[in-house]
Amino acid sequence: MKNDIGKILITEAQIQSRVAELAGQINRDYENEEIIFVGILRGSCYFLCDLTRRIKNSAYIEFMSVSSYKGTQSSGEVRINTDISMPIEGKNVIIVEDIIDTGSTLAYLKRIMLERRPKSLKICSLLDKPSRRKVEIEGDYVGFTVPDEFVVGYGLDYNQRYRNFPDIGVLKPEIYEN
Ligand code: IMP
Ligand code: MG
Repeated sequence: MKNDIGKILITEAQIQSRVAELAGQINRDYENEEIIFVGILRGSCYFLCDLTRRIKNSAYIEFMSVSSYKGTQSSGEVRINTDISMPIEGKNVIIVEDIIDTGSTLAYLKRIMLERRPKSLKICSLLDKPSRRKVEIEGDYVGFTVPDEFVVGYGLDYNQRYRNFPDIGVLKPEIYEN
């Protein structure tokens, strides 16, 4: 796996220290309020775990699985495969995502979560690729801004592989071509 990585953009240590900062911000912003963290499977798996174990508030951890149809004419279409298991009306919700790319996944999720009338709704994304945005949306808590390159590692995949690579990097060009 390591041989397929062409360049490391963010090291494991940099990720951990930034995740600690984000958790610190959330701890300050929510004081003693309860929070429901909604991790978007599967890219946010490591981020959600590392982040929430640093949260001092009482917290619920929920998961949602969505598919987006990219490259089709109807790009921006998103479907929920697995929904969260609890009502969020009147609750503080933080959606935890790996990356905001075109923004269509989060724009859709935000819309359907707001229909459920939470007390508050925020987006926490490890990465942001603003140069690719097609839908206007911003993360409330963002770890790192990345250039317009397809990144893998720390949960992010290429064709479902490389999620378990500990740093965030870019694959060698020949891997993407295959
Ligand atoms: P969006 O709806 O275009 O913002 O897409 C968000 C989803 O696309 C993310 O949750 C990722 O699963 C995937 N994605 C976008 N860019 C990358 C990348 O550079 N590496 C890995 N996955 C990505
Ligand atoms: Mg994802």
